[in-house]
Amino acid sequence: MQSRVAQLEEANGYIVSTRTQSRGFPMRLLHLFLFSLALIVTFSIISVYTIKRFGVQTAVTTVKSSFSCTKEPGTLNHWIRPPSILLHKMNDQELLWRASFVPRIKNFPFSRVPKIAFMFLTKGPLPLASLWERFFKGHEGLYSIYVHSLPTFDAKFMPSSVFHRRQVPSQAAEWGKMSMCDAERRLLANALLDINNEWFVLLSESCIPLYNFSVIYQYISESRYSFIGAFDDHGPYGRGRYNEKMAPEVDITQWRKGSQWFEINRDLAVNIVQDTTYYRKFKEFCVPHCYVDEHYFPTMLTIQAAHVMANRSFTWVDWSRGGAHPATFGRADVTEEFIRRIYKGQNCSYNNQPSSVCYLFARKFAPSALEPLLHIASNVLGF
Ligand SMILES: *[C@@H]1O[C@H](CO)[C@@H](O)[C@H](O)[C@H]1NC(C)=O
Ligand SMILES: *[C@@H]1O[C@H](CO)[C@@H](O)[C@H](O)[C@H]1NC(C)=O
Ligand SMILES: *[C@@H]1O[C@H](CO)[C@@H](O)[C@H](O)[C@H]1NC(C)=O
Repeated sequence: MQSRVAQLEEANGYIVSTRTQSRGFPMRLLHLFLFSLALIVTFSIISVYTIKRFGVQTAVTTVKSSFSCTKEPGTLNHWIRPPSILLHKMNDQELLWRASFVPRIKNFPFSRVPKIAFMFLTKGPLPLASLWERFFKGHEGLYSIYVHSLPTFDAKFMPSSVFHRRQVPSQAAEWGKMSMCDAERRLLANALLDINNEWFVLLSESCIPLYNFSVIYQYISESRYSFIGAFDDHGPYGRGRYNEKMAPEVDITQWRKGSQWFEINRDLAVNIVQDTTYYRKFKEFCVPHCYVDEHYFPTMLTIQAAHVMANRSFTWVDWSRGGAHPATFGRADVTEEFIRRIYKGQNCSYNNQPSSVCYLFARKFAPSALEPLLHIASNVLGF
């Protein structure tokens, strides 16, 4: 409205100046001025009439909404666009609650391209980032990235990097403790805020992809099962860690063990963020020497959704050297031959058929492995 008033004032100023100078002006120019003046006056009258009739409110709202078109209030986009800022101010309780929203109508009223959420659970830097950059290149729109690192770590990625501003609010996490599961739930919850994320893969800074993006996307999207390790181990490191105080929610026959590096679909991710029943039991009764990050999700999901679990992880790891930790591979280990040995002799079930492709990712790779990995990637890894 202010700009319209200003326009009117300007027009008045114009009248004054034309009148005082009109004598020296040719008639045709004067006609043009008068015609413009008539237009301006007509426009002003219409504006004033509109504002009076429909109220100043409408005029103001119209101006406001045309300036803030990026927010698109009142459209469906407002509900389905992923958050533009990952570093939100929600605490865990607020975040988990928000992430547990599930639409009851299963058909999406828009064309939805399902994405894979790659969730990196790290201590600090991502030493193999440039390998991952190459892996993701050209597949925009089919993936999202989330990074949970120690809260004290300040990530510095170039704006051109796929990891730029992909850090989520984090808290310190300790292996074998509930704080590790909390970090994983936090990653899942942040990733659930994007309605287009359909599959959720948990990775560490020492993981590498064993195939190119197309192969991995196809393998995950066409699988009837989620890839989470769930093994009924009758020994001391399996059932031996079960505590009878977990009954009746958890029976010893339902007790499972598996590696924490999982892939789950959206339904299972919601199961995990919304859980309070099993969370309480595991927090209280699965403490060292019960390592909660090896038991909580495999056991809980076996109770709730056994029929959609592959019961195996698709992240390769080498325990053959023995000891408490799996082998870490560095510069001297990584050759084409080494990677081909990982591919060879695989035998597992994929969609109820025998398959020789069982592992999509591998760990653990030291920072020094980056250079040889980049060197052999196009030949052996396919990207
Ligand atoms: C995984 O194990 C559960 C029992 O814990 C079973 O019901 C399910 O069929 C298994 N999944 C596959 C793919 O065999
Ligand atoms: C893979 O394992 C299945 C079931 O154990 C077996 O029938 C099949 O022959 C094996 N395939 C290879 C190539 O070893
Ligand atoms: C990905 O790898 C597969 C199998 O190695 C290959 O057939 C395909 O061409 C590769 N795709 C791209 C986009 O490089």
